[in-house]
Amino acid sequence: MKRYINISDFRKVAQKKIPKMAFDYIDGGADDEVTMARSSSAFDHYALCPAVLNDVSDIDLSTTVMGTKIDMPLIISPTAQARIFHHTGERSLAKAAAKFGTIYTLSSISSVSIEDTAKAAGGPKWFQIYVMNDRQILRDYIQKCKEAGYAGLCLTVDVPLTGNRERDIINGTGVPPKFTARNVFNILSKPTWLWNRLTNPRVSMSNIEPYLENKDMGTLAKFTAMQLSKNVSWEDALWMKEEWGGKFAIKGIMRADDARRAAEAGFDAVIVSNHGGRQLDQVAAPIEVLQEIVEAVDGRCEVILDGGIRRGTDILKALAMGATACMTGRPFLFGLAAEGQAGVERALEIFRNELELDMLLLGRKDIKSIRSSDVRKL
Ligand code: GLV
Repeated sequence: MKRYINISDFRKVAQKKIPKMAFDYIDGGADDEVTMARSSSAFDHYALCPAVLNDVSDIDLSTTVMGTKIDMPLIISPTAQARIFHHTGERSLAKAAAKFGTIYTLSSISSVSIEDTAKAAGGPKWFQIYVMNDRQILRDYIQKCKEAGYAGLCLTVDVPLTGNRERDIINGTGVPPKFTARNVFNILSKPTWLWNRLTNPRVSMSNIEPYLENKDMGTLAKFTAMQLSKNVSWEDALWMKEEWGGKFAIKGIMRADDARRAAEAGFDAVIVSNHGGRQLDQVAAPIEVLQEIVEAVDGRCEVILDGGIRRGTDILKALAMGATACMTGRPFLFGLAAEGQAGVERALEIFRNELELDMLLLGRKDIKSIRSSDVRKL
């Protein structure tokens, strides 16, 4: 395997290895991609404040999130259709997470089903839900998650419709994709990806397949788009929480008042997220709204920061501002696209190594000793 020094290295290799259409689907955001870029760059507006002469001979990265003990405070975010990027897809993401003792969050529009992901990897898993118009589908998902031992559900609330992703429009990304001469030439220039694609089962929306006779991707995608509900309410979220009866997070919270409402309604966690800058552009970075959300929930539920994380120091800043843990998606998809499961593992290893060293240099030996005075706004 190539030498990967930091998280940015995976992006460069992924760009060489997979078709432009697939790469841009991961790499792109909405409109002018201002929010996408800001989600990472905003971390630079905060500085860490190291504490000295503390015993840091044993660094412990473990923590507990929504009742699950994990070995490091970074969770893999839900992302769609991972087998497009590497034929092993969600299985590899889940196996790598299990190996590093952290949680993998499976997307409802995954290319490996709830059951098969659970069979592939024994580690802790969450399942991400989009509200579908047909509530029976949601009941079935919840039942499958119970049977497969998922540790939590997270309801994504920022996708009443997909955002305006212009790279996807330009590339003709869709179902089916536009096979222009340029796209075909580009695909032919990625022989390993193409070989794996042709010699492995086709990519599908595995959780949706059981509901349709016609299982071609076009039909599945159209059905899913039709099912995405635009009138989801707090009552619907509570209904789902009730049906599940276990740990339940709301993902896509960017305001203190919504966070307060989620905490008051008894949800176990809010995930501060702008969907990787893929939905509404010109939204703040998660780190910029974290403080006010932590204050609004006032300890009544956990707060998890999702998106923009590229360094161990990013995680430390979020933890110092009151997050229980962080989540991120793109680094692991780039790792997957670059090297399959080994790439996801190496990305997790880089995050773990950075975090260990950063905690040591910050003067904090474990997660619970990190405090608000460890970070300051510049
Ligand atoms: C799906 O959630 C996406 O952002 O593409």
